[in-house]
Amino acid sequence: MMDFGQAEFRQTPEQSAEGQMIERLGTSITSEYNAIHCYEVLMNEARTETEKRQIAEIRNDEVRHYHTFSALYHQLTGRTYSAHQTEMCPNTYPEGLRHAIESEQNAVDFYLESGDEAHNPHVRSIYYRIAKDEQQHAVWFLYFYTLNKF
Ligand SMILES: [Fe+2]
Ligand SMILES: [Fe+2]
Repeated sequence: MMDFGQAEFRQTPEQSAEGQMIERLGTSITSEYNAIHCYEVLMNEARTETEKRQIAEIRNDEVRHYHTFSALYHQLTGRTYSAHQTEMCPNTYPEGLRHAIESEQNAVDFYLESGDEAHNPHVRSIYYRIAKDEQQHAVWFLYFYTLNKF
């Protein structure tokens, strides 16, 4: 009988940090995937052309983020991550904006934390850069929400 000694299967701290980073990347890809879909819906509900155009621009950023995270995932694992829609998109414009503000704020938190935890400087700078985009998106959505409220 083969001896499956525990030591052989125990992960080194580097390996488990790498595993956590890969899991975070999967979560990030899923969150971008959801945003791309929900912002398509939101864009079509926008009340002015200016808001519609700005949401389209934000959506393009999310497409770019999605590709960046997917490429990184592939680079680190050799596998392609297949994302699925996990969220329901709200069906009114104000609810969609509120949902967007919260999602963007949560993304900023998660990406900054992921950047802090990344050992690889390339991964770290990608997370920090994308966190800045999400912060800016949050401000745009908050602005539109305010405009539509009064
Ligand atoms: Fe994004
Ligand atoms: Fe965003």
